[in-house]
Amino acid sequence: MIVMAVPTVRSQPAAAHHIIFDTDFALPPQDDGLALAFALNSPELDIVGITTVAGNYNLARANADVLRMLEIATRGDVKVYGGARRPLAHEKDTFATSHYGKWWSDDPAPAPPGGFAKKALEPMPAAEFMARTVMARPGQIEILAIGPLTNVATAIQQQPAFARAVKRIMIMGGAIASLPDGGGNITPNAEFNFWVDPEAARIVLRSGIPIVLSPLNVSVRTSFDRESFRALTASVTPITRLIDAQMRPRYESNPDFHPHMYDEVAAASLVDPTLVKTKRMVVDVDATHGINYGVSVGGAEVWPGAEGARTIDVQYDIDNARFMRLFVERVAK
Ligand code: RIB
Ligand code: CA
Repeated sequence: MIVMAVPTVRSQPAAAHHIIFDTDFALPPQDDGLALAFALNSPELDIVGITTVAGNYNLARANADVLRMLEIATRGDVKVYGGARRPLAHEKDTFATSHYGKWWSDDPAPAPPGGFAKKALEPMPAAEFMARTVMARPGQIEILAIGPLTNVATAIQQQPAFARAVKRIMIMGGAIASLPDGGGNITPNAEFNFWVDPEAARIVLRSGIPIVLSPLNVSVRTSFDRESFRALTASVTPITRLIDAQMRPRYESNPDFHPHMYDEVAAASLVDPTLVKTKRMVVDVDATHGINYGVSVGGAEVWPGAEGARTIDVQYDIDNARFMRLFVERVAK
C-alpha cells in the first residue's frame, strides 16, 4: 500500500481572547506600556482595538504614546480610539492636582522617543467603538481595563444592551482591605484607577458584567527585578530596545529599583489564570465625597449600604516567579 504524504498547513492557533485594550497609556517604564508589549506578543490575545483614557497622564499623551508604541512594534494594523479626557464626576481639587493630577492638564503631549507616530487615531470615540464592537459580537469580546473605568461606564450608560453582551472584563483596580496587602496607593485606602473615577468604577462593578478584579493586593506581591530586566534586554527587538532605553537608567541609578507590576498582571492572568489565586467576593466602591472617596470594599456577602453590589472574581495572590518568567519570555520574543 502506498501512503501518500498529506501536506500540512501550519496556521496560527485561534486566539482564545478577543480583547479591547482600555488604557491610560504611557510608554514603558509605565505598566500600561509593558502590558501592551506583553499583549502584542501573546498569540492567545487578539487585540480588536485599543481605547485610551486620561489617568496616568492626560489623554493627549496616552494617544501619542500608544500610537508611537504600535509604530515601534510595527503593529500599525491595531486601531486606536480616543476616549475620555476627564472622569465622570471627580472634581479638580488641590489634592488631585498636587499629588497625581496630570490627567487634568490640557497641555499637548510631549514628543515620544523617536517622535510622533505617523499613524492617527480613528475618528470614532472610544465608548462608541466599545459598544458597537461588543454588540456586533455578543458574548465574544472581553475588555482588558487597565486605567480609570470612564470609557466602560460611558458605554454602559449610552447603550443599555452593551453590558449584557460583554463576555467579561479583566480590571486592574481597587485594593481590598479585608484581604492581605489591601492598602491604597493614592490615598491610604484607595487605589489610583478607582480613585480617579470612583463613579465609573461603581457603575461597572454593579453592571452585572462578569468581572475579574486584579487589585493592588496582587500587584504588591510582584517585582520586575534586575535579573528579569537583564534576561529581557538580552534579546534585542524593537520593543526590548525601547524598554532598555527607557528603564536602564533607573536600574543603574537606583540599586533598589524593582517596580511592582500592575497592568501586566491583569494581561498575563488572561493568558494563564493559574498564575493567580482568585476568590468570589462582593465588591463595591465608595463614590461619596470624603475621606473614603474611591475606596473599594470587598466582603463575603452584601452588607448594609452595599445593596445592589455584585459578586465578582477577586485575585488575591500570585506566583511572582512564574509570572515574571512568562512576562520575560513573551516580551523578549
Ligand atoms: O494603581 C495602579 C494603576 O494606576 C495602574 O493601572 C497604573 O497604570 C495606573 O493607571
Ligand atoms: Ca494603567
